[in-house]
Amino acid sequence: MSYPEIRPRRLRRSAAVRRLVSETRVDPAELVVPMFVKEGLTEPRQIASLPGVLQHSRDSLRKAAAEAVQAGVGGIMLFGVPVSRDGRGSGGADPAGILNVAISDVVAEVGDATVVMSDLCLDEFTSHGHCGLLTGDGAVDNDATLAAYAEMAVAQADAGVGMVGTSGMMDGQVGVVRRALDAAGHTDVAVLAYAAKYASAFYGPFRDAVESALDGDRRTYQQDPANLRESLREVALDVAEGADLVMVKPALPYLDVVAAVRAAVDVPVAAYQVSGEYAMVEAAAANGWIDRERVMLETLTSIRRAGAQIILTYWAVEAANLLRARY
Ligand code: PBG
Repeated sequence: MSYPEIRPRRLRRSAAVRRLVSETRVDPAELVVPMFVKEGLTEPRQIASLPGVLQHSRDSLRKAAAEAVQAGVGGIMLFGVPVSRDGRGSGGADPAGILNVAISDVVAEVGDATVVMSDLCLDEFTSHGHCGLLTGDGAVDNDATLAAYAEMAVAQADAGVGMVGTSGMMDGQVGVVRRALDAAGHTDVAVLAYAAKYASAFYGPFRDAVESALDGDRRTYQQDPANLRESLREVALDVAEGADLVMVKPALPYLDVVAAVRAAVDVPVAAYQVSGEYAMVEAAAANGWIDRERVMLETLTSIRRAGAQIILTYWAVEAANLLRARY
């Protein structure tokens, strides 16, 4: 008798065995690609802190959306970058606002071939860069902001969006948006709630991507990175208010939160691999310090393993192409 009898390595000895026993697969259909469209651009533009990600023109956005469909991604999350902003973020609810016209463009291009989603938040449209309206003394006014979100949700739904991503972290936003959509006859438009969203420094490159004017931080509405139970409370509220899916954001530094949320709810759970997570890997890979593709797929697999069924990632199209070639 040889020792040891029990050898877990038997299940790792060849690529074929490893493939057979793999517990987690990332499916392109569960990847969502965030895309940025900037008002007035005639050519797409690189974003320095997000290598490989573009600020699109309306034309290049349509082409990129078609390519994403070709790659088999499950969804496209749209963000608009307006040329002018005001204190009330009125571009968000304006039917001629860049995000709303981009929604119509993309829906016209891809139809039902993928899920078209939009960011439902004011920060891209406000001159002060906050996710809400401000009171006279500069605090973010929760309830006044809710009315603005309701209006913006209806404008996005009128433009044809399939799913709105409530990312502003105002109390009651999911309920208000759900009611506004229903009252406008958009009962089929789903709400993807950014339910557990942390006040994270990992959003840095995103602020470049949308040219955010924010001075200060979002700690009075986004969550403290130290808290996990608070996320369960946020998620439970969003589900009670009618969220169709819930999301945790960022992803990799918060895998414990992803796992806890997965265990706590029955709705689909998404995670957003945010700009800083992407940029760190790209920067290290550009220096030759890590193997870019392997790290990319390892991060996505880990987020999936932690319990996120859906992953928003700037690598979605590339990863989808790599994964299709693999399986
Ligand atoms: C809010 C929003 C942000 C991100 C997605 N939606 C910025 C913020 O909350 O400050 C960040 C995404 C990323 O970093 O990739 N509109």
